[in-house]
Amino acid sequence: MSWENNYKNKIVSADEAVKIIKSGDRVLIGHATGEPSVLVEALVKRAPELRNVELMHMVCMGKARYCQEDMKDSFAYSGPFLGNGTREAVASGRADYWPCFMHEIPKMITTRKIMDVALIMVSPPDEKGECSFGVSVDYTESAARTPQTKIILQVNNRMPYTYGTTINLNRAHYIVKADQEVIELPDPKISEVEEKIGRNIAALVNDGDTIQMGIGSMPDAVLNFLGDRKHLGVHSELVSDGMRKLAEKGVIDNSRKTLHQGKFVANFFMGTRKLYDFIDKNKDILAKPCDYTNDPFVIAQNDNMVAINATMQVDLYGQMNSNSIGVYQYSGVGGQVDFIRGTNASKGGRSIIALPSTAKGGSISKIVCFLDYGSAVTTSRYDSRFIVTEYGAVDLFGLNLRQRVKALISIAHPAFREQLEKEAWEKKMLR
Ligand code: COA
Repeated sequence: MSWENNYKNKIVSADEAVKIIKSGDRVLIGHATGEPSVLVEALVKRAPELRNVELMHMVCMGKARYCQEDMKDSFAYSGPFLGNGTREAVASGRADYWPCFMHEIPKMITTRKIMDVALIMVSPPDEKGECSFGVSVDYTESAARTPQTKIILQVNNRMPYTYGTTINLNRAHYIVKADQEVIELPDPKISEVEEKIGRNIAALVNDGDTIQMGIGSMPDAVLNFLGDRKHLGVHSELVSDGMRKLAEKGVIDNSRKTLHQGKFVANFFMGTRKLYDFIDKNKDILAKPCDYTNDPFVIAQNDNMVAINATMQVDLYGQMNSNSIGVYQYSGVGGQVDFIRGTNASKGGRSIIALPSTAKGGSISKIVCFLDYGSAVTTSRYDSRFIVTEYGAVDLFGLNLRQRVKALISIAHPAFREQLEKEAWEKKMLR
């Protein structure tokens, strides 16, 4: 018998399913490329009859229609990572940012029991009724662990089946059969500066290392220069097309991993359809929730772990702001600190932060004496290790404050070095 027959009492249209959402409810939306767009659109259509529905959505890659001015009485977005569709709403006060390490988001959801309803997109079920979370396990799965949360599942034939974490159709309050293309992220364009940074970082990656790559175009710039490495492994939050290409070339084979040997470990996938076809029913993929993949104690079990992430601004002592421009909230902490801490504890680990030396067309230095007023410290100076720009790489571990000042000035853009040194003397950071 087909699964549709077994679950016919639960199968409804999207419009019908979202009627369980009431004014004042808190609703979780599946993350990033896993956004169940059909359910979100059905919810948005109910705006005239709903008030103060709080939406928790991390990286929003869809239209974020619920964030727009005319929706403000119906929906209030609150999320731990902002993007194009949500940033302006937070800046103008209609929405809010929710500070939380990525590995702790599931704990927040399950222990505070804060979600009334969750909108989740899954693959079609197997013969036991188990659906895969596909491209988005991350925090999305944690809603299913909270018995109080009503789950609406959008079963999508285009969602790849990833091994590692499933949800049974029995857990669903409603099931909506609706196919949609999984949101894609095209290959990023890599600038000349990013290429130089990529080369500098690649020099720090050895055969047999296990890597994590953060968000942005920088990670792909690095991957481009790893083509001649052997036996790389992946334990990451995010897996992209860059990693797929290295796996297809045989550079990534996960054979030397000390945890989950042979497996790509990740909690979400973001890229083109080629990536989604690559991960579909691929026995080498282990897709787990982010309270597992991002737990620093789990990350640390990978020997020779290399974490590569980006930042907005670094001060001369190595303190970093990776998620705001002054008080303006730009993105979020994501898994940056989770991976830096886990990697610093890994035997042979190297945590790396990459940044172009300047921003705004070369008019400002990203290496500064002091972080901008109102900036959020993402990675503290106690956690920071390798910092890499297009002018080189420095390792801050074991350097005292004065040595850090000199090291960081040495990789600043030459046009700003003299000014930074002058300021450092004036502020008695150099004596
Ligand atoms: N001062 C002022 N503006 C700055 C700036 C600075 N020091 N540094 C960057 N900007 C501006 C850029 O000009 C750009 O503006 P625009 O959108 O108007 O063009 C914007 O900030 C984004 O900078 P960019 O360098 O293009 O960002 P990115 O896409 O490469 O992402 C981070 C970089 C740091 C924002 C991103 O990696 C992030 O959010 N990291 C934190 C979370 C994380 O690391 N997670 C890891 C696991 S996924």
